Amino acid sequence: MSRIAYVNGRYFAWRDAKVHVEDRGFQFADSVYEVCEVRGGRLIDARRHLERLIRSLDALAIRMPMPAAALGVVLREVVARNRIDYGIVYLQISRGVARRDPAFPADSVTPTVVVTARPLNRARNAALAETGIAVISVPDNRWGRVDIKTTGLLPNVLARQAGLDRGARDAWFIDQDDAVTEGASSNAWIVTADGVLVTRPADHAILRGITRTVVLDVVKAQGLAVEERRFTLDEAYRAREAFATSASQIVMPVVKIDGRVIGDGRPGAVARALRREFHRHAEAG
Ligand code: PDD
Repeated sequence: MSRIAYVNGRYFAWRDAKVHVEDRGFQFADSVYEVCEVRGGRLIDARRHLERLIRSLDALAIRMPMPAAALGVVLREVVARNRIDYGIVYLQISRGVARRDPAFPADSVTPTVVVTARPLNRARNAALAETGIAVISVPDNRWGRVDIKTTGLLPNVLARQAGLDRGARDAWFIDQDDAVTEGASSNAWIVTADGVLVTRPADHAILRGITRTVVLDVVKAQGLAVEERRFTLDEAYRAREAFATSASQIVMPVVKIDGRVIGDGRPGAVARALRREFHRHAEAG
């Protein structure tokens, strides 16, 4: 089936979907994005993703090019036109097209809007969650506002690739105090030997993941002990369980960090339960 993408008000066949060479997203990563899970053809937690998008745009003084409700319609239309049952929808808004100059362009420049969608392999994701994944740790060398979901992802790209090059699947960032910040495209969690869930507080050093927020709701509903605090890499090595959360993977058990086996080397009971329960607490629409 041919893929369809939305670009600035129109739906294009895949090969015809293009943005200008002077788009500031391309030139400066002057651009924000969102990734939302699609399940049964419905968007998961779209409302929260759109709220975070507005926060990212506000933080960078990029104009919201259309009302959030209209953007929601476009997201659903792209999912429908691509007949996605299970997958992701991707939305990017850049500051627009202007002669290359770091200073903001004139107010008359309209932001660029791109929406794409693609299916994910449900069986493959489920199989990965059954075995768990290995990650490596890498120094967190990102800027100080990674709570803004910008497309400036070069450190994340390099971290992920370093993980793959070392036979792992992903990477976790470590700050100057040896504390874990987050994954290259996920939030990081551990379960301590005492059974307490720990994840870093959502300050400027991590992205406040929508999956993270909903997992916190699940944790509270189940009456599990949880602490939002920093945890060190060493604590992670000694944890009973570790896992990562993101829209595309929901809850992904981590069974090895830097080659060290976490817990008994298999996905833990807490991560499995959270993965099972997640969609009861998420909003589908
Ligand atoms: N990644 N931290 C980073 C650096 C991320 O890129 C992401 C999301 C998350 C988790 O956020 P959420 O739960 O809202 O997906 C945390 C998306 C999925 C991506 O880049 O594909």
